[in-house]
Formats: sequence, structure tokens, C-alpha cells
Amino acid sequence: MTDPNVTKCLFPVAGLGTRFLPVTKEIAKEMLPLVDRPIISYGVEEAIESGCRDLIMITGRTKRSIEDYFDSSFELESVLRERGRTDLYEKIHAISEMANILYVRQREPLGLGHAVLCGEPFCRDGYFGVILPDDVFVSDTAVMAQLIEVHRRLGGTVVALEEVPRSEVSRYGIVQSELAGGNVHRILDMVEKPSPEEAPGNLAIMGRYVLSPAIFPLLAERHVGTGGEIQLTDAMKRLPRTEPVWGLVYRGRRFDCGTQKGWLAANVRLALEDPELSSVVFDIVDGFRREIRPCPKRDDRI
Ligand code: G1P
Repeated sequence: MTDPNVTKCLFPVAGLGTRFLPVTKEIAKEMLPLVDRPIISYGVEEAIESGCRDLIMITGRTKRSIEDYFDSSFELESVLRERGRTDLYEKIHAISEMANILYVRQREPLGLGHAVLCGEPFCRDGYFGVILPDDVFVSDTAVMAQLIEVHRRLGGTVVALEEVPRSEVSRYGIVQSELAGGNVHRILDMVEKPSPEEAPGNLAIMGRYVLSPAIFPLLAERHVGTGGEIQLTDAMKRLPRTEPVWGLVYRGRRFDCGTQKGWLAANVRLALEDPELSSVVFDIVDGFRREIRPCPKRDDRI
């Protein structure tokens, strides 16, 4: 019997962040700030909160700043201590003690499926989590913990699902499924980034997975799919032949921090959750309202 606990979590972080250029020319997109910490920190905190102890980051050449962020910063820490800034010292020191993090290089940008395959040597002994850090969730219970709960109860692979408008299906992996009970669907098929006409529904896979190690031989076939990349969805769609694949319509709100719109929305939403910052946000918005006169409606223009 396999261990029902999911203690490992994989983070594909080798992507180039082209949707965020030019800022991502020199800065890893995962290091862009969300209020007071980098985007990647939210995913790491979610994994830890969900019981994962060993985190595996699949990185690339330009992502060294992620390693540095989670490493101890001896000079900064000793300066903070010398200056008596114990509060800040403890905050900074705690980052390097958050989790055991291992780094593996994805040497070629061959897609999400290939990134997951790079983690095989560390994840082949049991079910493991995958967090796509661009997808940031605000929820009462960590979304990864919600998926792990379904895995413990029903076994098998579990993916996070959300309904999206038909017009947006081509941005996601879309599943064909039947309701199994509550918010859990049994997945029968899935397709990566279909057109609205070919989509088997409008339930989209969001960036959280509990994956079976049986995924690795399927990924190792290196089937090239949508966008000329090795797609995780293409390998997962073959799993239901050997084991159940569940989809959970999670409780929570998702922000796509891989886009400027989603990143901006996440910053505002997270700031509103902070008792001090929320009044700052409202003051700024009120100030702008007074300062900026609304644009005349199109019909009123000369
Ligand atoms: C990836 C997956 C896709 C999923 C999406 C969620 O796509 O391939 O199936 O729906 O993440 O964010 P990407 O956004 O990396 O193109």
C-alpha cells in the first residue's frame, strides 16, 4: 500500500515569464513582489501548510535569485542583529528555515510535462504535489491541502478545477468529467488548451496537482503536444486507464500572477486583507477619484 501522505511538492519555475516582459528580462517572474514577499513564497507557504516537507524546484539559468531568497543571508542577518533589529532578523532568518528545498535544472524549455519529468529522481517513490506558483490562491484552507484530503479519502491523482467562461478555455487544460459527489468530479478525459468548439466542457485545471508516480513513464515517452511542448495534461489523460483521476472544484479565489492583470489584482486583494494596508488602499483610491475626472463617454466626445 502506498503512503497516503503527500510530503513532497514540486515547483516548476523555469518558465521565461514572457507575458511580463520587460521586467522579467532580468528578474525571475516568481520573484515579483506580492505585497511584502515574492510570488514564489505564497506557493511555498501553501505547500508547508499542506504538510509537504521536501520541496523540489525545477529551475533554469535565470532563476538563481529564487535559491538565494530561500538561503540564509549571513551578512544581512548579522547587520540586523548588530543594530538590534531582532524582529526583522527573526523574520529574515525564518525564510531560510521554512523547508528543505532542492533545486534541479531544467536544461531545455520543453514544457510543463518535461519540467515534472525532471523531478522524477526525487518523486518516484510515492504521490507528490505540484504547485504552479503563478497561480496564487486566497482561501481559508490551502488549496493543496484540499487536494491532499481528496487523495487520502479516495486515492489516485487529484487536480484543482475551476469553471471558466467558454471564451477562455483555450488558456487551460480542460476536463471531461462526471460528478462523483460534493465538489469532486471523476475525470474521464482532458485536453490541453482546446478551442471553444473542441472543448469537452468548461472545467479548467488550475495550477495544483497531487500526482501519481505512474505519470513518469508516460512523460518519458516525450510526446510533443500543444505549442510544441511536452504537456503534463497529455500524460495525465492516460492515467485513468490504470487509476482514478479526480478533479476538485476547490474553495478559494485564484489569481493568475503570470499576467499583469492578475498580479495587480492579487496585490490589491492581499493588501485589503492586511489591517494596516487596507485603509491605505482605500485612501489611495479615494485620492485618485478626486484627482482624476472621469473620461467623457464615447458618445459625448466631439
Ligand atoms: C498550465 C497547464 C494547464 C493549466 C494551467 C493552469 O498552462 O498546462 O493545463 O490549466 O497551467 O494555470 P500554462 O499556464 O503554463 O500555459
